[in-house]
Amino acid sequence: MFNSVSITDQIYWVGINDRRTALFENLWPLDHGVAYNSYLIVDEKIALVDTVDAGQTSEYLGKIKKIIGSDRKIDYLIVNHMEPDHSGTMQAIVELYPDIKIVGNPKTFDMIQNFYGITENHYSVKEGDILDLGQHKLKFYMTPMVHWPETMMAYEETNHILFSGDAFGSFGALDGGIFNDEVDMHFFEEEMRRYYSNIVGKYGATVQAALKKLSSLEIRTICSTHGPIWRNDIATIVSLYDQWSKYEAEEGVVIVYGTMYGNTGKMAETIGRTLSEEGIKNIKIYDASKTHASFILRDIWKYKGLIIGSCAYNTAMFPPVQNLTDKLIHVGLKNRILGIFGTYSWNGGGVSNLMKFAEQIKLPVVTEPVEAKCAACGNDIDGCMEMAKQMAKKLREQA
Ligand code: FEO
Repeated sequence: MFNSVSITDQIYWVGINDRRTALFENLWPLDHGVAYNSYLIVDEKIALVDTVDAGQTSEYLGKIKKIIGSDRKIDYLIVNHMEPDHSGTMQAIVELYPDIKIVGNPKTFDMIQNFYGITENHYSVKEGDILDLGQHKLKFYMTPMVHWPETMMAYEETNHILFSGDAFGSFGALDGGIFNDEVDMHFFEEEMRRYYSNIVGKYGATVQAALKKLSSLEIRTICSTHGPIWRNDIATIVSLYDQWSKYEAEEGVVIVYGTMYGNTGKMAETIGRTLSEEGIKNIKIYDASKTHASFILRDIWKYKGLIIGSCAYNTAMFPPVQNLTDKLIHVGLKNRILGIFGTYSWNGGGVSNLMKFAEQIKLPVVTEPVEAKCAACGNDIDGCMEMAKQMAKKLREQA
């Protein structure tokens, strides 16, 4: 988007959309792009809140200059988060405005030095400090591990705006609309949950600590570094973050499987059909070879039931299933009901390693695993149906 957009008569969105990068962090698919949001507060003093990825520096600087002209300088760069999708243009900003004061905390400055070699004009803030820009005053809250150690937030007290860094952010470029009431929020809620589960999900406890810290603030607008700006319905987004960071989930089941020749896949279909006959409406079946783990994680974060199947592959789990289970261990998934199935082939390794995964992640298994020799037959099909019935029963009990 070429334009900057006014949030108030003195605060502007000067972010950029990235529709070229294929993988966020070179890891997570960006099928619909991503926005790097940056904000400019023009008062007696001028403050820039975070910068953007280095890919579109000239467009970004052009937006800023269009607002403040060439005569005025930016006084402060607020660095809420140092990941390079937000600090990538810091060097260009410092070159353009050499007297700019960089506002952060001691952990921020360590990173600034180590990423960019910038050692001067540091303006250190701590919990509760206030930066006075004139009419606007920014109060700082330290929110470590949401999702890096230096992360902090800035609360603008006049208009009650929270500059939240990655928190409350979303994948997805801003296709014209930038406010939550201007965009398709069904799309963005899915992309927010994908962003949360992929990027922030490991840090549920520290997200909870941050939410607690912010709970006394009157927040009318949330300006995250990704996705839409929330200028109403704040309770909804805060409640979603609360739910996700407590690993709370709703009734439904994700069935994900790895299969070479379709036999484990057929077992998944049986489980899905039986769940439906048992009255479960939210059922998502994924072939782990076909769908990137990013999207499967997004749905695992939504639903209470998780049934994982794997064929045996050289006495191990099928690699895409191994990849997914490694990610689940990494993010420390909690509060789910697990089912396990698969095929043994000539030496096993799929189901046995899935059971080791269940032990490691400490999730209860709904029934004994179902392991077919090669193609599932009589007892195996019955076992799949029984697993689905027991899963549905547990979900109903916990509804
Ligand atoms: Fe959007 Fe953690 O960077």
